[in-house]
Amino acid sequence: TRPIQIVPSVLPADFARLGDEVAALEAAGVDLVQWDVMDGQFVPNLTFGPDVIAAARSHCSVPFEAHLMVLTPDAMAQQYVDAGCSRLIVHAETAPHLHRTLDNINGMGARAAVALNPATPASAIEHVLDLVDLVLVMTVNPGFGGQAYIATMERKIAEVRAMLDERGLSDSVDLEVDGGIGPATIEGAVRAGANVLIAGSALYKDPDGLEHAVSHLRSLAE
Ligand code: DX5
Repeated sequence: TRPIQIVPSVLPADFARLGDEVAALEAAGVDLVQWDVMDGQFVPNLTFGPDVIAAARSHCSVPFEAHLMVLTPDAMAQQYVDAGCSRLIVHAETAPHLHRTLDNINGMGARAAVALNPATPASAIEHVLDLVDLVLVMTVNPGFGGQAYIATMERKIAEVRAMLDERGLSDSVDLEVDGGIGPATIEGAVRAGANVLIAGSALYKDPDGLEHAVSHLRSLAE
């Protein structure tokens, strides 16, 4: 299995100072930043267009990944690659031709990844695991930060981990979990098979700051 990664979601950051915020994340020692891209259609919230991410790109040198919670990933993917995202995470529920969508993203020189909403079965990604370097299992219903972790998703996390193991992909494909990750939930997610943990509110509400929050979560996960 690939190493544990604690990855911040920018969703709770101060949107009036995003350049400084991603610089602060880099200073806190993170090695990847996730942008929760929401279009107000697939999820009831609207966040970052490509120009916002492009503006923040020059303030930070760690890779960006875009979690595309959008109804039209095919129409938007290239713009997010051009904005500086090196991985695009497409929701299986938003691509009727998911295999082609992921293949196209790989063709753009970015890395393709696929996400599953809580109700979507792991089998939905069974035939595209050769096209991705990450699978995201959502542990909240997407749209907002600060929601409660859906512990029943641990069954699905374990299912995806088993799918990766039986295909010999656990050394090349990450299993990411996003939603409600914090000190009380991270160990269950890792025990179930996650190795990349997205945290938003748990990082930003830590009174001891981002660096402490990241290292605290990492110590619980390893
Ligand atoms: C949901 C978002 C959130 C965010 C993290 O659409 O994807 O899960 O990344 O939010 P927290 O860590 O506050 O649950």
